[in-house]
Amino acid sequence: MKHCLMNNDENKTEDRKTIKVKTKTIVANWKMHHGPSETREFLGKFLPLLSERDLPRILLFPPAISLEVMSASIGKHTDIGLGIQNIYWELEGAFTGEHSATMAVSVGAEFALIGHSERRHLFGESNHQVKNKVSTSITAGLKPVVCVGETKIERVRGDTETIITQQLDSILSEISDQKSGSILFAYEPVWAIGTGMLPEPDEIEEAHSLIRMWMKEKIGEVFSSSIPILYGGSVNENNAKDLLKLSNVDGLLVGGASLDPMSFSKIIESASL
Ligand code: PGA
Repeated sequence: MKHCLMNNDENKTEDRKTIKVKTKTIVANWKMHHGPSETREFLGKFLPLLSERDLPRILLFPPAISLEVMSASIGKHTDIGLGIQNIYWELEGAFTGEHSATMAVSVGAEFALIGHSERRHLFGESNHQVKNKVSTSITAGLKPVVCVGETKIERVRGDTETIITQQLDSILSEISDQKSGSILFAYEPVWAIGTGMLPEPDEIEEAHSLIRMWMKEKIGEVFSSSIPILYGGSVNENNAKDLLKLSNVDGLLVGGASLDPMSFSKIIESASL
């Protein structure tokens, strides 16, 4: 199996967006909120709230239609990366309503959220489709943030490990290549998304450790230690700091609480160095 080369120092300095696990990553997933004018308004309030201290890596995922405005409004904030919430696995063609990875790149996206639970469960996205999207993202130069997680029923049945492992296994062929060095994972229990219900700390640590062990086993310790694993699901300004202290939690994926500039900046503050 080929291993990724992103761990050598040369690559790290070459690419300012390369994510080292020591640096926490905070992701805002706006879902279907904030069109272009609200995006401008959000940034007008949010950017001045960012402290002068060493910030975590901040990744913003607005609706696709707001990406261009966001990209133009970010200005000098080179610590902020932009991402698209979903892409289609073909790069062009008769696919009404879809966005391609290359189009996302052309309006400033560097990341793509892939396999979010709303895509999997509301839009019926399969593990196979997730794999195709990861593949296309990497081909087009987007860094995939791959979401995995179990439903409540799956957890109650004791199937959490099996489900997460299946989701991970389905994309294995895509991450064993050196091009995929900038992949990120997010553990997002479906039942914790938008519900205000947080898993127990040991449940989060167990899932993150499962993902870390899977990576070590499949792609080697060196490569796997550079891949961040984020936690997502009902993160807010009150629980962010404690979540970030958990082992193998390298950052947070924030939905609802990222829509408000003040709440989101407080979450970022908890992850500041
Ligand atoms: P939430 O959403 O923070 O509103 O629970 C998380 C997500 O989008 O994954």
